[in-house]
Amino acid sequence: MSDRTIDTYSDLAALSAAARQALIDLITSTVAERGVFRIALAGGSTPKRLYELLATAEIPWAQLQLFWGDERNVPPDHAESNYRMVREALLDPAQVPAASVCPPPINVASPEQTALAYESRLREAFGDEPFPRWDLALQGMGDDAHTASLFPETAALEETERWFVANWVPKFDAYRLTLTAPAICSARNIWFLVAGEKKREALRHVWEGPHNPSRYPSQSIEPRAGSLRWFLTEDADPRPRPS
Ligand code: 6PG
Repeated sequence: MSDRTIDTYSDLAALSAAARQALIDLITSTVAERGVFRIALAGGSTPKRLYELLATAEIPWAQLQLFWGDERNVPPDHAESNYRMVREALLDPAQVPAASVCPPPINVASPEQTALAYESRLREAFGDEPFPRWDLALQGMGDDAHTASLFPETAALEETERWFVANWVPKFDAYRLTLTAPAICSARNIWFLVAGEKKREALRHVWEGPHNPSRYPSQSIEPRAGSLRWFLTEDADPRPRPS
């Protein structure tokens, strides 16, 4: 279990408000220092409120590059699309310039083609680095301890070279597209947003259980040279409650 910063909040609204301010601060300092901020966005439902709150913030969108940490193998206008969720919550309301937005180029018929094309795009953006040096990799976590689309006992968990892959997920009988663990761990900052008591047992295993990332994939996310921060709702926190 690495050093980690843990902050807990009464509910998702409070968590999202705190994450919004933390993200504004990180974007501001990063852009001031390096002129650009590259983020791998999380999908699912937890970060949606954060994205909605970010839409009303003063953000130098032209200095940001928005990527997706994972995506479903569906068209960008599909109800299950992470791109669509971010477009509706953030991109459209904030009028984020298209030049700052880089979703995976989904080709439903060939998820491997999508993965190869997106990996090339990421390598263009990050240059000749062994893995993408995200300014922030934003992660969610499922109640099975998956993160991104790194699901338990799936092939992508074994990948050590590729940055972005197509991952067959038996529980969905479908492909997902996802960053690999090394391509997340290379981030300067990794933030997990985890809400709801349904996640508590999984988080207990991730933090306190035997090291078994194949069964608990979020255990594979340890920053190689960066910081790890957890934003939790109180009901997702497995630590003993102060009396
Ligand atoms: C996705 C996500 C995934 C998500 C977790 C948690 O595409 O679904 O990237 O990793 O973060 O499944 O999902 P919720 O936030 O909806 O609980």
